[in-house]
This record gives sequence, C-alpha cells and structure tokens, in this order.
Amino acid sequence: MQIFGVDIGGSGIKGAPVDLDRGDLAQERFKVLTPHPATPDAVADGVREVVEHYGWTGPVGVTFPGVVTGGSTIRTAANVDKGWIDTDARALLSDRLGGLPVTVINDADAAGVAEMRFGAGRGRKGTVILLTFGTGIGSALFTDGVLVPNSELGHLELSGHDAEKRASSKAKEDGDLSWERWARRVEKYLAHVEMLFSPELFIIGGGVSRKSAKFLHYIDGLQAEVVPAELQNNAGIVGAAMRAAEEGVGER
Ligand code: BGC
Repeated sequence: MQIFGVDIGGSGIKGAPVDLDRGDLAQERFKVLTPHPATPDAVADGVREVVEHYGWTGPVGVTFPGVVTGGSTIRTAANVDKGWIDTDARALLSDRLGGLPVTVINDADAAGVAEMRFGAGRGRKGTVILLTFGTGIGSALFTDGVLVPNSELGHLELSGHDAEKRASSKAKEDGDLSWERWARRVEKYLAHVEMLFSPELFIIGGGVSRKSAKFLHYIDGLQAEVVPAELQNNAGIVGAAMRAAEEGVGER
C-alpha cells in the first residue's frame, strides 16, 4: 500500500509517496523551500505544491515541528511562525489539498515511529528515545514500541538554557563549535535525559545522523546504547505516511 508523506522542516517541505510495506519512498522525493515567514497559509501552499507534483489524490500524512494533538491541532511553534499556535492544521491542509484526507504528527514522533518499525529501533523493547538534532531538538519516547506522543525533551533545561539552544546542530553552527565540543554538550544533554528516563537505547536522528562517525565516539559516558538513525532524511516522510495509514484517514 502507498500513502503520501510530507515533512515540514525549517528549510524545506519535502514529500513523496511511501511504500508502507518496505518503509521506503516509492518515488524520488520532491522538495520546495520553506517560505519565510513560515505562516500557516504560506506553508500550506508549499505542501500543496509538493503533493500536486505527483498528482496525488489519496490520503496524506504531514509532520509538523511542534506539539500536535489529535492528529490535527498545533499547540506550539518554537521554530516556525507563531501564527500556527491553535491552528487546526488538518482542516487547513485538507482544504488546501482539495479535500484529501490529512493527518498531522510531530516531526520527531514521525521519525521515531519509522525508526522503530523499519530502522534502528526495530524489535527493541523497553524504553527507547529517538532525538533529532537540527534547527531544534525533537524527541520521540517509546515504551515497548508504543509511542508517548509530544514528549518535547528538546526543551529540557541544560546549563540554565533551553537544551536545544545549546545542543542542536544549529547551536553547533551558530557557535562554530568543533564536533568534539558539540558532542560534549550532546553527551551532557543525553546524561540528563538518561537520569530522567533510564532508556535502554538512544537513537540519534536528524541531519547529523549521516555524520555520526564524526562525533558518536565522543559520547561514551552513558549507560544506554547510543546509535545513529538508519532512515536518516526520509524518516519523517515515512513516519507521517505510517501514521496516516494507522489512522485510516483514507477509509470512509
Ligand atoms: C519543537 C519540537 C520539534 C523539534 C524538532 C522543537 O523546537 O518544540 O516539537 O519536534 O523542535 O523540529
């Protein structure tokens, strides 16, 4: 079965039809730049452009970089336009897509769902936490494979700051930090999360997962196993489509 997945990120809106049996894109993905300011209206136009590129007429799963309740309502918008807060994103996007069924899920939760099924978390029981390092820090918390949605661990306090302001990959770029210096911050952050949740496994996702050889060896002081994500850039798209399938948004 195929369902369309869209990943709304700080720099791009990416999407493709997803083959849900393989957990992979069924066609090469298409990307448009995220508009600035990333208002609901402007982003909805970007999502439409991506979906229309394929002439898609079925269900669509969409990620969002903030708290999403009920597959629909946006509650926070740390790194996108604040106009999203309290927006019914399902209604907005479905309307913009000519009435196609839509479900919305937090971006890190989507990546986590995909990694647990098809990637680094496959078959893993106990507490597993996926963290995405990008513009912010996203988190997905699982217990015996079941997601606890909207965990938002990127906003824990670290050294008196919002953790994502210290340890995201944007913080690395903004502060011109070496891989080692940044990795020490990440390790400190992971130690804090470990103190709270004692996970068996941390999965490191986001753009940096491709570069794990540059920094993962610096992170050696934890009890938990720490591994890079396997689906890398496509995890959000795949997870969004999986969620749309689970919700049966295409069945009427
Ligand atoms: C948001 C999260 C999101 C993460 C990654 C954070 O600032 O609060 O909801 O998952 O960034 O995009």
